[in-house]
Amino acid sequence: MNKNFYITTPIYYPSAKPHMGHAYSSIIADFFARAKKIQGFKVFFLTGTDEHGLKIQRAAEKKGMNPKDFCDQISITFKDLSKTLNLTNNDFIRTTEKRHLKSVQNLWNILEQRNEIYLSKYSGWYSVSDEAFYSNDEIEDIDGIKKSKSSGSLVEWVEEESYFFKLSKWQKPLLDFYKKNPNFILPKSRKNEVVSFVKAGLKDLSVSRKSFSWGIKVPSNNEHVIYVWLDALTNYLSALNYPDINNHLYKNFWPASLHLIGKDILRFHAIYWPAFLLAADIPLPNRIYGHGWILSGEEKMSKSRGNILDPIKIIEKYGLDPLRYYLIKEVSFGNDGNISQEKLENCINSDLANNYGNLCQRIIAFNEKNLNLMIPNEINFKDIDLKILNDFSLNYQNLIKYLDNQDLNSYINYIVEKLFASNKYFNDEEPWKCKDDKIRLNTIIYVALELIRKITILLYPIIPETSLKVLKIFEIDENKIHLETIKDNNFLKLGQKIKKLSILFKKIDTND
Ligand code: ME8
Ligand code: MG
Repeated sequence: MNKNFYITTPIYYPSAKPHMGHAYSSIIADFFARAKKIQGFKVFFLTGTDEHGLKIQRAAEKKGMNPKDFCDQISITFKDLSKTLNLTNNDFIRTTEKRHLKSVQNLWNILEQRNEIYLSKYSGWYSVSDEAFYSNDEIEDIDGIKKSKSSGSLVEWVEEESYFFKLSKWQKPLLDFYKKNPNFILPKSRKNEVVSFVKAGLKDLSVSRKSFSWGIKVPSNNEHVIYVWLDALTNYLSALNYPDINNHLYKNFWPASLHLIGKDILRFHAIYWPAFLLAADIPLPNRIYGHGWILSGEEKMSKSRGNILDPIKIIEKYGLDPLRYYLIKEVSFGNDGNISQEKLENCINSDLANNYGNLCQRIIAFNEKNLNLMIPNEINFKDIDLKILNDFSLNYQNLIKYLDNQDLNSYINYIVEKLFASNKYFNDEEPWKCKDDKIRLNTIIYVALELIRKITILLYPIIPETSLKVLKIFEIDENKIHLETIKDNNFLKLGQKIKKLSILFKKIDTND
């Protein structure tokens, strides 16, 4: 079994500071990276910024800056955000780096040598905001203003000499590939969208521009810059030192396991990217997952709409783990979702403070009172104890399946269910009434501690900082977290000391 896992986020446009939508993709990617890590995988997790093209050139001009200085300034805010979000990314790529330029020009040369590219003339609609070409039936006229139907962004007419990629010839191979690999595009609804689009017929794709200069030059013709999407998509290879295909990164991690993206950029990842790779005879990634949007009211949160929520401000006010938990639990993965301070506060109170926080706090406090912070040294499981403990081993394969299928909703539902069940177990068993039955008292405390340990391991990819705090009381460090140990009912060593636990989540007074 291949125990390597390569996961990527989109590389974001540094045209403005990051917002909650960017934070969302990055947090979800970090969830999967951490989840794979605790399953014993070697993980390579990549994120970065997409710095070429007319969109960036214009944004820089607006600020009176040259594009490179402009990108330097904003890219750093994305890099800082990845630290603030506690991401475990192994690299942060910028498309203005030399390693990337080399990789893109190499891929271009291969496509040209293989006769996949030809020179012609483009005339049609272009959205600078989406960096996308649109056909006539993909645009609409609203009060004399032409816009993309799908994104609502302005389009402008472009007419210039351009290189074309022979996308049309890959229609059939792409359809065959989707058929053979039914989980290549997830969720299913998005896959269907892509398949119908490809079935309707693919036109050759314009892959160079002549009327501006901010990009990577076509090696054989310096008057052209390479289309920013061909440039950007190649980042997934350049971070593995492509074209040096014998280096350990490429050898271990290509093809990518999972390109996590938002549904707005599905066409580029699920059609253009595999077509470029097929044409260059490079293996295709295993999966493209297109998640939904974080909405602001009814609309997609985006800088062009000006309806953004700053993740840094939310983290300053509520902390990082509550935000991570909220985005993973309250936004149904695959669908659009909302975030507001009110909803976040309710989630912190009900799930983190009352459910998880309360479970940990009351059990440790009860242990302290009765056993002076020691794991009991004599226990005897009853059926009722084994029932709740064994549930984790019984569901282990299901949990792995949820993770493999990016079924985040089932994964978190399982955790929430176990949290309720654990609090209920402690209430129902009433250990405070067992003063005369030391073994029963000890056993209930032991079971409760095991439940905390198991649930906390499951929570690690979601709220890593808090999980580590809790696991520390059992002396389990980050490198000792193994998902498999949730199957073990006797992991905690009898008679050992545990540490005290400070308050995990403060309840928020929602009447403020
Ligand atoms: O498209 N909700 O960059 P971008 C959820 N550079 N996710 C959102 C979001 C929202 N409201 N807004 C943005 C680009 N995202 C290209 C990508 S990849 C080779 C090149 C997330 O800055 C989501 O992942 O517009 C979306 O696909 C991505 O940011 C787009 O970021
Ligand atoms: Mg965008």
